[in-house]
Amino acid sequence: MKAVHIHDYGGLDVLHYEEDAVRPTPGAGEVLIRVHATSLNPFDCAVRAGYMGQYFNYTFPLILGTDVSGIVEDVGEGVTDISVGDVVYTRAGVYKDGAHAAYVLAFAADVVANPPSLDHVHAAALPHVTLTAWQGLIEFADLSEGQTVLIHAAAGGVGHIAVQLAKWRGAKVIGTASVNLPFLEELGVDEAIDYSTTAFEDVVKDVDVVLDLLGGETQQRSWKVLKPGGILLSTVQPPSQEVATAHGVRQRMIGTAPPIRKVLTEAATMVENGQLKPHVSAVLPLKEIQKAHEMIEGRHTRGKIVVQVVD
Ligand SMILES: NC(=O)c1ccc[n+]([C@@H]2O[C@H](COP(=O)([O-])OP(=O)(O)OC[C@H]3O[C@@H](n4cnc5c(N)ncnc54)[C@H](OP(=O)(O)O)[C@@H]3O)[C@@H](O)[C@H]2O)c1
Repeated sequence: MKAVHIHDYGGLDVLHYEEDAVRPTPGAGEVLIRVHATSLNPFDCAVRAGYMGQYFNYTFPLILGTDVSGIVEDVGEGVTDISVGDVVYTRAGVYKDGAHAAYVLAFAADVVANPPSLDHVHAAALPHVTLTAWQGLIEFADLSEGQTVLIHAAAGGVGHIAVQLAKWRGAKVIGTASVNLPFLEELGVDEAIDYSTTAFEDVVKDVDVVLDLLGGETQQRSWKVLKPGGILLSTVQPPSQEVATAHGVRQRMIGTAPPIRKVLTEAATMVENGQLKPHVSAVLPLKEIQKAHEMIEGRHTRGKIVVQVVD
């Protein structure tokens, strides 16, 4: 099958489009999905560069890619609730070969029927970023009506979904961006801050939740904008419990996936109700995966970059 392999960690040049990859066979509890579309996440670039090898037991050649929308091609032993031909989306391939290929294996228990109104390109934009934003804002913060959330990097993959989840919960949303500031207005944020001209801590105070998608000094400057008892959530760098205590607030690192099927089922319902809409700013063929990595590493993408595997 066709796939993008890496045979070693490194830069863009370790990404190799090849047509002789071995098509996997589903084991017990697994399904084989014919990938129609997949998307890119900074996680893929981090794995490629070798930063995740210490956490995951990867072997080469390795196929990257954690998001898939496609059609079930085969099911393994014991799978009774998913059938060949089902149109599905999920997160797969975090721990082993991923979806930047013609086929990917997924745990049947994680597989969900696509939102009927979305094509594969848009469905593939959702899983990884929705699971992340959901774990932070819904599971950890339990964001509620009338609360205020500051979302850093609100125009990116996780950010644009987080904005929509927060609005759905009835929260007031403050978002940061620079070149993508107009997109924040399209998303309906209540207050958009251009981080290239304004220090957010000069204009924001007393928020209930900060969603930090950047780490570093952005995280350090975020403590002071929280109200007492508020919560700082990060996807990038574990916030210090000591600093949280000193500020009278809470902290959580986002990372472990929430129940995938439950969240993606709810997300599909939200899509059908018009409450959640993935934004795809570029669609590339599998052969151009290097360009997709380059775009993500440029750190200024809007919404998601999707790779279309079946035309
Ligand atoms: N722990 C986990 O489980 C987990 C899961 C998902 C993601 N992550 C991590 O979370 C981070 C965000 O992921 P993502 O997919 O949302 O990334 P992304 O889509 O690549 O983010 C791109 C966005 O970042 C914005 N940005 C860049 N620098 C900024 C700054 N200084 N202040 C505010 N916004 C800035 C850009 O806005 P402008 O172009 O307007 O500047 C752009 O829209 C990544 O580091 C990723 O690895 C972790």
